Amino acid sequence: MKPSLRFFLAGFLLWILQTGLCYGIKWIALSKTPLVLALNQTQHCKQLEGLVVSQVQLCRSNLELMQTIIQAAREVIKTCRKTFSDMRWNCSSIELAPNYLLDLERGTRESAFVYALSAAAISHTIARACTTGDLPGCSCGPIPDAPMKMKKSGSQANKLMHLHNSEVGRQVLKASLEMKCKCHGVSGSCSIKTCWKGLQELQDIALDLKTKYLSATKVVHRPMGTRKYLVPKDIDIRPVKETELIYLQSSPDFCMKNEKVGSHGTQDRQCNKTSNGSDSCDLMCCGRGYNPYMDKVVERCHCKYHWCCYVTCKKCERTVERYVCK
Ligand SMILES: *[C@@H]1O[C@H](CO)[C@@H](O)[C@H](O)[C@H]1NC(C)=O
Ligand SMILES: *[C@@H]1O[C@H](CO)[C@@H](O)[C@H](O)[C@H]1NC(C)=O
Ligand SMILES: *[C@@H]1O[C@H](CO)[C@@H](O)[C@H](O)[C@H]1NC(C)=O
Ligand SMILES: *[C@@H]1O[C@H](CO)[C@@H](O)[C@H](O)[C@H]1NC(C)=O
Repeated sequence: MKPSLRFFLAGFLLWILQTGLCYGIKWIALSKTPLVLALNQTQHCKQLEGLVVSQVQLCRSNLELMQTIIQAAREVIKTCRKTFSDMRWNCSSIELAPNYLLDLERGTRESAFVYALSAAAISHTIARACTTGDLPGCSCGPIPDAPMKMKKSGSQANKLMHLHNSEVGRQVLKASLEMKCKCHGVSGSCSIKTCWKGLQELQDIALDLKTKYLSATKVVHRPMGTRKYLVPKDIDIRPVKETELIYLQSSPDFCMKNEKVGSHGTQDRQCNKTSNGSDSCDLMCCGRGYNPYMDKVVERCHCKYHWCCYVTCKKCERTVERYVCK
């Protein structure tokens, strides 16, 4: 049995959530912090974008944690863009943090995904920093279900939606931390069992969330008794499931450029002529057609093995045909 990973941090995460430091998705603006920022309290915290005055104070007294949060912000952007690189909406607008366009400002499916991913990423990055010892003072324990401090802005329905989706993100991360076991032995007799507890890559968690994004449920804010709840819009009355992403507003198809709704359009996006998925030229270009162009790729080739023990290769250039949407 592997030594169980030293994971986690109840205190830190609770603190982050309760101070509102990483509530929502504005904190992703921290990704713009220059990589090499000397740990000079006054300078460092002033240069961070997207912090309000009280948060700058928190920053000053928790510099090590801030470095980890900045790291998490970078991870969210990288992971979101990679996960959606084959989609019409490709998460490029996340770079505008903290001044998002309507694709992420309204209660859309896309914002549902980004809220869930950023909630998962902050926990993930801190957990990783704790296990590698980069963050001193981590305590071991389960991920807490913290009550989140809510900002005053935004409609009640939007707040409920974001709260729900952030929780879905944390649940997916939590599920990925669960004990995994594998049986060995003669024909699966399980005479030897190996169990481990570990962190999945954030990319895997993002892929899980993308599946949930694709099957997200549209909800409405409806009074039930004395309070209003988010309930699925379709007629069959059932409560929202804890595991599903929810959204309030339908998104445009993202085919054409329309700043007003936060759509960049897909003109000049690369498409894949042989795929029949979302990156196929047909779907990506919304039926407008595509233009081919020649691209050069450099590859390692004519590799030779030398005894003992190294390999030498040559560089070969090859032209490939690629396609961009009209
Ligand atoms: C932090 O940086 C500022 C501006 O560069 C400088 O004036 C100040 O002395 C520095 N503080 C420390 C403790 O190094
Ligand atoms: C993502 O979409 C935007 C807008 O269509 C485009 O400018 C950008 O090049 C795309 N990024 C990638 C990696 O395809
Ligand atoms: C295009 O899609 C096919 C089928 O999914 C895949 O095998 C191929 O690697 C893709 N090509 C590029 C350039 O992504
Ligand atoms: C693409 O479509 C073809 C024909 O409809 C089908 O046989 C094939 O399995 C599909 N490939 C993928 C990756 O969905």
